[in-house]
Amino acid sequence: MSQYVVAGGTPLVGEVEIGGAKNAALGILAASIMTDETVTVENMPDVRDTNVLLDAMEGIGVEIHRPSRHVVNINGSRVRNVNIEYELIKKIRASYYLVGALLGKYREAEVPLPGGCNIGSRPIDQHIKGFRALGAEVDVEGGVIRARAEKLTGAHIYMDVVTVGATINIMMASCMAEGKTTIENAAKEPHVVDVANFLNSMGAKIRGAGTDVIRISGVRSLHAAEYSIIPDQIEAGTFMFASAITRGDIMIRNVIPKHLESISSKLMEMGCEVDEFDDAVRVVCARGLRPTQIKTLPYPGFPTDMQPQAGVTLATSGGVSTITESIFENRFKYVDEVVRMGADIKVEGNTSIIRGVPKLTGANITAPDLRAGAALVIAALAAEGCSVVDAIHYIERGYEDFELKLKHLGARIEKADGETEIRKQKLKLLSA
Ligand code: EPZ
Repeated sequence: MSQYVVAGGTPLVGEVEIGGAKNAALGILAASIMTDETVTVENMPDVRDTNVLLDAMEGIGVEIHRPSRHVVNINGSRVRNVNIEYELIKKIRASYYLVGALLGKYREAEVPLPGGCNIGSRPIDQHIKGFRALGAEVDVEGGVIRARAEKLTGAHIYMDVVTVGATINIMMASCMAEGKTTIENAAKEPHVVDVANFLNSMGAKIRGAGTDVIRISGVRSLHAAEYSIIPDQIEAGTFMFASAITRGDIMIRNVIPKHLESISSKLMEMGCEVDEFDDAVRVVCARGLRPTQIKTLPYPGFPTDMQPQAGVTLATSGGVSTITESIFENRFKYVDEVVRMGADIKVEGNTSIIRGVPKLTGANITAPDLRAGAALVIAALAAEGCSVVDAIHYIERGYEDFELKLKHLGARIEKADGETEIRKQKLKLLSA
């Protein structure tokens, strides 16, 4: 496993470019095989999750060409089977999007159950409810989801919980069904809207994405499209909190400020200055941070994917803050790690009580999952002294060139692979 070696204590200052949204890209990649014509997707993030999904798609015969790092051409006309190999797809959760796409196009799919971050139980009952409502037979056995339908017919589907994955999956499965489908209590995240816009660019008829009710009128087929993915709301938010925790001044470029409103609002409550521009936000933290209360909610609420980054930042504020995690049941695993850096945080059920401390100190810490890993890196950047963050493969699932972007902002961070390199990088950073 690789590590980051970090020498903390330097405010991050400068500009950073945000890449394409990973969680939009995963749905868009799956949806791209629903036509036999070639689809071009731009602003594709070059991260492990999307690359694993592309490999799995190639494994069933999808033709993939990458004319450049962030552009991918996809042609699904030669898909030879609908059975995804476990070895190919076990590393990511979004494998389930292939069920919606393959069912929607071929009326059948066999996909291994998702893997992914251990932030909670991650059920798929709402996905299955949607597929069955459209007329598919769905069973889960031997760790594989099997779905098949003679015909898919539009249905009125009421989601029992607001779920990004199931909303996207049902949009895909229903876009070539006969008749109209309504999804009530739909997820409204920017990446749900992006997948709907992408499907519409291929000829689908999806209305209402971004609201509680999405209406889909089935079409006979989908066609070629060229599409550019929206900027990643969570990558942007991570750099916004990196500025706050290091008391820095960062201009975050290539964002949609509207998508960041709940994050900007919390940072202003905490005492940061946040300026919005057409496609950028600037976060300046010139003084100490104030405590606050956060409850994670579906969009447009405060995103659960930003909860760890907010937690480590509030650990350095003055006063007592609380965070309530209402989406996942196991998303405080970073707390034990940041407590080893001197934080004073207690977790009771799905709420953390954070007593701010004057400073964090460097330590050897381990990334427990994707967003917690990113949070531990920004905590190490703020801490006094040297830290080693282990298991950074989690971080590489969702952040492109993370350490390079941080270095460009003045961070003293290097990648290492094992004890010898860790020692070498420590010497290099501490002598710089
Ligand atoms: C997506 O996961 C994201 N992943 C997650 O981001 C994100 O945290 C989550 O949405 C919430 O915004 C991708 O897009 C690949 P959900 P997803 O279905 O779709 C319950 C990251 O860091 N639920 O919206 O799996 C579920 O248990 C990742 O990039 C059911 O009960 O999340 C949870 O409590 C981590 N039954 C809630 O809904 C279901 O069938 C929200 O889950 C599905 C979900």
